[in-house]
Amino acid sequence: MTQLPEGESHPPHEVYPPSAAMTGRAHIGSMAEYRELYERSIRDPEGFWDEQARKEIDWFHPFSKVREFDWEWGQAQWFLNGRLNVCHNCVDRHASTRGTQTAIIWESDTPGEGRSIDYRELQREVCRLANVLRHHGIKKGDRVAIYMPMIPEAAYAMLACARIGAVHNVVFAGFSAESLRDRINDARCKAVITADEGLRGGKIIPLKRTVDEAVMACPTVKFVFVAQRTGNKIPFYPQRDVWLRPAMDNERPFCPIEHMDSEDTLFLLYTSGSTGKPKGVAHTTAGYLLHAALTHRYVFDYQPGDIYACVADIGWITGHTYVLYGPLCNGGTTVLFESIPTFPDAGRYWDMVERLGITQFYTSPTAIRAVAREGRTFVDTYDRSSLRILGSVGEPINPEAWRWYYEVVGESRCPVVDTWWQTETGGIMISPLPGCTPLKPGSATLPFFGVDPVVLDETGKEIRGNGVSGLLAIRSPWPGMARTIQSDHQRFVQTYLRPFLGYYITGDGCRRDEDGYYWITGRVDDVINVSGHRMGTAEVESALVTHPACAEAAVVGYPHDIKGQGIFAYVILTAGWEESQELIGELKNEVRHHIGPFATPDIICITPGLPKTRSGKIMRRILRKIASEEYAELGDITTLADPAVVEDLIAKRKTL
Ligand code: WTA
Repeated sequence: MTQLPEGESHPPHEVYPPSAAMTGRAHIGSMAEYRELYERSIRDPEGFWDEQARKEIDWFHPFSKVREFDWEWGQAQWFLNGRLNVCHNCVDRHASTRGTQTAIIWESDTPGEGRSIDYRELQREVCRLANVLRHHGIKKGDRVAIYMPMIPEAAYAMLACARIGAVHNVVFAGFSAESLRDRINDARCKAVITADEGLRGGKIIPLKRTVDEAVMACPTVKFVFVAQRTGNKIPFYPQRDVWLRPAMDNERPFCPIEHMDSEDTLFLLYTSGSTGKPKGVAHTTAGYLLHAALTHRYVFDYQPGDIYACVADIGWITGHTYVLYGPLCNGGTTVLFESIPTFPDAGRYWDMVERLGITQFYTSPTAIRAVAREGRTFVDTYDRSSLRILGSVGEPINPEAWRWYYEVVGESRCPVVDTWWQTETGGIMISPLPGCTPLKPGSATLPFFGVDPVVLDETGKEIRGNGVSGLLAIRSPWPGMARTIQSDHQRFVQTYLRPFLGYYITGDGCRRDEDGYYWITGRVDDVINVSGHRMGTAEVESALVTHPACAEAAVVGYPHDIKGQGIFAYVILTAGWEESQELIGELKNEVRHHIGPFATPDIICITPGLPKTRSGKIMRRILRKIASEEYAELGDITTLADPAVVEDLIAKRKTL
C-alpha cells in the first residue's frame, strides 16, 4: 500500500435522477426501499442471506448455518453443510420449466452468423461434454484449464466442469503459451479444453498451437480437448488430443450431477497482483452463485423476457459472473459475444442491440471511448429502443464517456450502472440500482446489499463521515468473496486481510462524497489497469528483463485517452547495446511473447539511470509523474541518490 489518492478533482455535482419509466417497474423502485433492505442486510446479515439463499438457490440438502468467519486466518464459510450444484441451478432447473426459452444467443464474429441455444439444448450439450470429461477420467476436484474463444463450447465446458465437480481454470485466450503454461502448472490441471483457432475481428488466433507449446511443459495434463471453430488444419496428437464434437456426439445427453458442498471450489481464475506471480483466486460454490444471481437480478433489474448482453470475455471474472453464472442462474437469456466493438465497424454493438433486441448492455469504459471516438453516426444508424439499462465495469469511467454513453447510446433514457468490483469480490459490490439511485457520472454510487464499505487512512484507521478520501476496504464478509489463493493461503491472508485486521483490503483508493457516494480513484498498489485488464507492473518488468539488452526495467501506468491507462516502461540497457527503433520493437515483442499482446508497452523510454533512494529503492512515484508529464508535482527529490537523473528523464520524456 503506497500512495493515497491525491487532491481529487471531481466534477461539479451533476445528478441524474432515476427515470420515471424505470421506477415504476423495477425490482427496487425507490431509495426508501433500497435503504430499508440495505440497512437490514447490514444489521442482520444472517437473516438477510438466509432468506436470499433459500429463495434464489435450489438445494439438494439445506444448509445448517449461514456463515462462519475468522478474518485473522482467512476462514470464510457460507451456507455450511448445504449441498447444491451450480449447473443444476443454471441449467437443469430451467430446462424443466422453460426448456424452449433461449438461454444463450451466440453472436459470432461475423455478424448474422450466430445462433440461439435454448435451455434444453444447453442441458444436452453440457451433459455430453460432462460425459466426455468423465470418460477421460476427470472427476470431482480435478482441475481443467479452458483456453477458448467465445463460442458456445466455452460455456458448455464451464458448466460441464461445474456439473461433475471439476474446478475450471479459464485462461483468457489472448495470453501467451508461457502464461498459459504457468497457470496450468500452478493449478495442476489434468486437461485443457481449447479450440483449433479463434476468430476475433476477422483475425485468426492460433489457440491449439499455443496450447501445444504450453502443454509441452505441463506434466499433469493428460488430455487436450479441441473444439472446431475455423476448421483449418492444425497439428493433432492422437494420444493426447481429442476432437470435442465427435466425442460429444458419442455420449448420451444425460449426465448425473455431483452434489457439491457449499464450500467446494467452483473455479480458479488467475489475476495480477503487485508481485510478479499471478494469483489463482479461488471461488466456491454457494456463496459465489448467490452473489452472482442476486447482483445480476438487482443491478441489471433483470426481468423475464429480457435479452441481456455482457460483452466481456469469459477469460475474465466479468465473463464468469455476468455472461454465464448470474444470468443463467436467473433463467435469463444471455449473449455470448465473440467479436470486438469495432468489427466490422464501430457500429457493431448497436447493430447487435437492434438485431437481438437487447435490453441490458454491459461493457467497459475503454470500449465506450473507442467507439465514441468514431462518432455518433455509428450509433444513430441503429434502433436502440429495446435498451433499458447500460452498464460499465473494469475501470473508472470518465464523466465525458459516461455522458456519451448515457445521452448518445441511451438517449438519456437508460440509467448507467457503473459497477465497481474485482476478481476477488466475485460480483458487483458498489453500483447504482437502476430503478432508484440518482446517478452522478463517474461515481459507482452506493453499496450493494450486504456490502459494508469503509474508507481507511494509511494507518488502517476508519475515516468516518462524508467528504473523505482514503483506501477502500470492506468491513464484513460477503457470500461471493474469494476464499483463498491456489497453493498460497498465506498470500491470500497477507494481501487482503492482514494489512489491517478486520477488513478486506481492496487495493483501490476512493473518495466518499458529501452524499455518501463512492468515487473509485484507481489502484494504490503496483497494479495498472489497461483497457480494463488488470496487470502487475512487476510482470511486465520480468518479461522485459528476459531480453539480453535490458539490464533493468521499471514499469508504470500513465493516462491514456482510450485505454484508461497505458503502459510506460523505463529501460536501462546492458553495456554494449545501443538505443534503436528496432531494439524498442524487440523489447515490445518480448512482452508480447511472455505475457500476451494486450500487455505490450505503449512507450519504452531508454534511460541511463532511474531515480533511486540511497538504499536503492526505485522511486515509482516520480516515474509515474514523469510518464504522465506532470513535471511540476514531483515532490521531494532530495532523498534521491542522484537527483540529476530526474532532469535527464524529464528531458527524455519530452522527446517521446
Ligand atoms: C478496477 C473487474 C473504477 C479497480 C471486475 C479494481 C473499477 C479492478 C471499476 C479489478 C469501476 C473495476 N470503477 N474502477 N466501476 N470496476 N475497477 O479484478 O481498480 O479485473 O480493483 O475485476 O478494476 O479488476 P478485475
